[in-house]
This record gives sequence, structure tokens and C-alpha cells, in this order.
Amino acid sequence: MALPGGIKTVEELAVEGKRVFVRVDYNVPFEKGTKKITDDARIRATLPTLKHLIERGARIVLGSHLGRPDGKVKPELSLEPVAAKLAELLSLDIALADEPVGDGARKVVSDLRDGQIAMLENLRWNPGEEANDEAMARTLASYCDIYVNDAFGTAHRAHASTAGMVKFVSEKGAGFVMAKEIEFLSRLLGKVDRPYVAVLGGAKVSDKIEVLDALLERVNAIVIGGAMANTFLEAMGKKVGASKVETDKLANARNFLRKAVEKKVTVHLPTDVACGLSLDTATPTVVLVDHISDHQMALDIGPGTVELFRRVLAEARTVFWNGPMGVFEKPQWANGTMAVAQALADNKLALTVVGGGDSAAAIAQAGLADKVSHVSTGGGASLEFVQGLALPGIEALKETK
Ligand code: 3PG
Repeated sequence: MALPGGIKTVEELAVEGKRVFVRVDYNVPFEKGTKKITDDARIRATLPTLKHLIERGARIVLGSHLGRPDGKVKPELSLEPVAAKLAELLSLDIALADEPVGDGARKVVSDLRDGQIAMLENLRWNPGEEANDEAMARTLASYCDIYVNDAFGTAHRAHASTAGMVKFVSEKGAGFVMAKEIEFLSRLLGKVDRPYVAVLGGAKVSDKIEVLDALLERVNAIVIGGAMANTFLEAMGKKVGASKVETDKLANARNFLRKAVEKKVTVHLPTDVACGLSLDTATPTVVLVDHISDHQMALDIGPGTVELFRRVLAEARTVFWNGPMGVFEKPQWANGTMAVAQALADNKLALTVVGGGDSAAAIAQAGLADKVSHVSTGGGASLEFVQGLALPGIEALKETK
């Protein structure tokens, strides 16, 4: 598939013997307080791009951020464990500069030989990265002849390494991760097979209200689960006991429900929930949403809701899923999220796209990642993309007229 705006793929670039800066998104999770990476999917996803460049004899400069160090050098957010993981996966030595830009970084880059890889330290250690500072952008650009962006997960950020530097490099293109993301997610914006159903979950309405509003223009039905459903239930006058509710978002929730009626988009909310007195309650109690008592907290959707959501998803021909249905990290509250994962996997007739973050982790936990059409590597980025918003990291790759 040709990418929009004349974006070239890495295969179309003459990279032989050239220094190629590859922006990757190695913002991976770690076991708390350790250097143990708990999910290396974002690293593995970039291997095809890196192998392609190695085979072509490119000199590869990798740039990524890790966490949010706010422009300060924070050793606990060093990319050192990530470089070690990548070296292991590729069976190659990787030179890690001890800074994102500077004399040390320049030396590591200039020592590169064909087919070798160097990694810069956490780009966000330098305040110029998030400020999209021109000096930082020019310095990064001076490290390469060609720019490749394979960091879809960061494409919604206009930073020096995702946007600013691109105009100072003469050749640019998308890596295989980026190209695949654009290809699949674009299919949700064009003429889709219907019904198009969006499944939204997770903790907060505030994180999702914009995407919910934007999806009203595109979908036939919206399925809402997770803690954010509590706010909608309360907005409808239900009593949700001790469940998490964003009281300052009740008006937004009411507004959304009203607009959905106007736009003839069906909104499916939980009809029953699995409750506990706390997250540590070992055995959930299932109650109808009208019967949640004052001390109970809804921590997952109930079996009746699972059945309802399963039916809606079986009939869908296009599905976008972002956000868990409950606290799926704990097995007693994982049922609803796993059931949604299974419902997507079971629907062989639909285009099924999983937005990154928790839902990507959940579908992997269910062992069903290869049973859906696409699992995005981007959380916030995929949410912005499905709204039809322009992502700076993608815009920067487009041909300049
Ligand atoms: C992500 O994990 O969603 C991306 O790496 C972007 O990270 P950010 O939200 O800190 O910009």
C-alpha cells in the first residue's frame, strides 16, 4: 500500500553506507525499581527495520525516549537495559552514548562502520527534545544523512527527534512499524465495513472524552467498560456505591450520551458488574448496576455484560478497542477484559484493531495477539489517529512540495 502524502518506506531509501537516524519508541515498562523489562514488544517490533538496515550496510543511530525525565539526566531512566536487550535480540554489539547529544554522542556516531548500531541516551534527558528546540533538532540531524521514523507510539508528540530534526535531513521515510501502523489505522478512517464498533475502557473519562466525542462521527456503536463506565452510570442516575467516579466529568458524560442519541450511535454500558470491597477482595460479587451497595466497588464488568458485549462484537465488521474492562492485572478482575479479547479474536469477518497500552498488554496476556488484524504499538498515538487528527511525527515524513 502506498502511504499517504508520498511518505517513503525505509525500503525505498538508498541507505548503503549512509548514517541513518532511526527514531524508535523504546519507552518500555520495567519491573518496579529494577532494570528488568516486563514487555519488550516495542523493541522486538523494530527488528525488521533494523535488520533491513544492517543487511544494506547502513550505519544506524538509534534515538528514543524513556519515561518522563523532564529534561534532566536521570540515571534510573537510562536506556542501558534497552540497549542490552536489543543487543541480545540482534546478537550484535551496540555502542551506547552516555548522553543524547554532545561530544560523546558525536564520537559514538562517527565511530560507526557499515552495518553497526549506536544508541543515543534517553533523548528526554535534554530539555531541547520535548521543547522541539531548533538547536537540538539541528544537532540530531547532523548525526545522520537519512532520517527514518519507526516510533509510531511517539508520533503524536512534536519533539526535536520526531518532528523538528526532519526538516534538516534531506532524505526521510517510515520504518516498517510506522508503515504498518499507518496502513491499518488509516483503514479505520476511510470507508469501513459496518457496523463499526469502538470499545473503550480504562480508568478515566478525562483521558477518553475527546476520542469518545470524535468517534461519534465515525462509529455505529460504542461499548464502554472499565472504571470510566461508572461515571457514565452515575450520570444516568444509577448508584455506583464506592466505585471510582469522576464527579467533575458527569456533565461531559451526560453531554456525550445526549450527542450519541442525536447521532444515532448506540452506547452500550455495563448492565452488571463484578464488585469487591477493595482491589484485594478475593471473590467478586456480581450485582446488577442498579443494586451496587454503598460500600461496594465495581472492578470488572459482570457476566451479563460480557454476554451483551460479546453479541455486539460478534455482529461488528470493524472494531477498535482501547482500554481494559476491569482491573485485569489482578486475575479476579480480568474476566471482562479477557472476554473482550476473545470476542475480537473470534470475529473472523471483522477488521479488528487494538489500540496500544493496556489493551495491547491484555490481548498479549490472553495469548490472542496474532488472532486480531492489528495490535498498535501506540497508546495515545493510536487514540489520536483514530480521531482523524494529524500526528506531527507522521506529518513530518510527508513529501514537502
Ligand atoms: C507512549 O508510551 O505512549 C509513548 O512512548 C509516548 O510517551 P509520552 O506519553 O510520555 O509522550
